[in-house]
Amino acid sequence: MGETSNERGMKPHISVLPGDGIGPEVVKVALGELPGEFDYVVIEASAERYLAEGTLISDEEIAAVSDSDALLFGAVGDHRVPDGVLERGILLRLRKELDLYVNLRPFPEIGITFVRENSEGPYSGVGGREGEIANEVNVNTVAGVERCVRYAFEHAQEHGRRLTLVHKSNVLVHAGALWREVTERVGGDFPDVEWNYEHADACAYHLARHPSRYEVIVTDNLFGDILSDLAAGLGEGLGAAASANLHPDPTTRPTRCLGLFEPVHGSAPDIAGTGLADPTAAIGAARMMVDELQRSWLASKS
Ligand code: IPM
Ligand code: MN
Repeated sequence: MGETSNERGMKPHISVLPGDGIGPEVVKVALGELPGEFDYVVIEASAERYLAEGTLISDEEIAAVSDSDALLFGAVGDHRVPDGVLERGILLRLRKELDLYVNLRPFPEIGITFVRENSEGPYSGVGGREGEIANEVNVNTVAGVERCVRYAFEHAQEHGRRLTLVHKSNVLVHAGALWREVTERVGGDFPDVEWNYEHADACAYHLARHPSRYEVIVTDNLFGDILSDLAAGLGEGLGAAASANLHPDPTTRPTRCLGLFEPVHGSAPDIAGTGLADPTAAIGAARMMVDELQRSWLASKS
C-alpha cells in the first residue's frame, strides 16, 4: 500500500464516476485491477439519473470529487438526451471545475503521445446561436497555451523525445500565431528538446502514412480530440486507448484532485450489457491514475 499512499500517509481516496452505457462495466473491471488499497466514493451522475431527476452533477458531487486525490471516469453519452447536455454538463464541467488543462493520450503501439490542451479552443463555451448564425468561439490565451506547451516540453524532455506543435496557422492566423510564439518562447527553456511545427491537415495525412515521424504532439483542444482518435485507429483501437486529464502543476492546482482518468472511447450504448465491451482502455486509465498518484506522492517527499 505504501507505494500509492498520499502525502498524508493514508490510502489514496479516489472518486469513481461510471456514467453511461459501457462505462459501469469497464470501470468495474478496472477497479478490480487496482493495486493496493484505495478508498473510493461513487458519483452517480448519468443519463439515467438525468432523465429521472433532471440532475447532471450536483455541487456536492463536484465538491466530493475536488476533495479526492483523483477521479476514475467511465463514459457519458446517451441517445435519449440531446447532444452536448451530458458531455458539457458532466465531463466538460469536471474538466473546467478541476482546471484539468492537459489531456495526455499515450499510444504506445505507435510510439506517439498527445498532449492536448484541455480547457480552451472551441471548447471554451463562448458563442451562441442567433437565428441562422451559429458561433463557437475559438478562445486561446497566452496563459492557457503556455501552461500546456510547458508541460509538453517537460514531458518530451523527461522521456528524451521530439516534440511537434500541430495547429493550422495558415488559416487560423490569430490563434496559430499565438501558439507558435508561445512555443518558440517556452522552447527556449528546453534547449535539449528538438521541436518543429506542422499544420493539422498535413499531420492527419502523415499520421496515416508515416506515423514514425512523431514522438510527442502538442496541439489545441479540437485538433487533439480528432487527431488522437485517428492515432487510436492506427494502433490497437479505441478499446485500448486511455487518457489522463491533468492539472500537472501542484503549485496552481485548485483542488486536491490531480486528474480525471478515462478511456478515450465513449459510452457505446449499442454493446452495453452484451459483454462485448473491451475494458483495456479503462484498465489503462486506472494505471495512469496510479502512476500519477505515485509521481505526486514521490514529488511531495522530495
Ligand atoms: C474525448 C471526448 C469528449 C471530448 C466528449 C465526450 C465531450 O470525445 O474526451 O475525446 O470531445 O473531449
Ligand atoms: Mn474525443
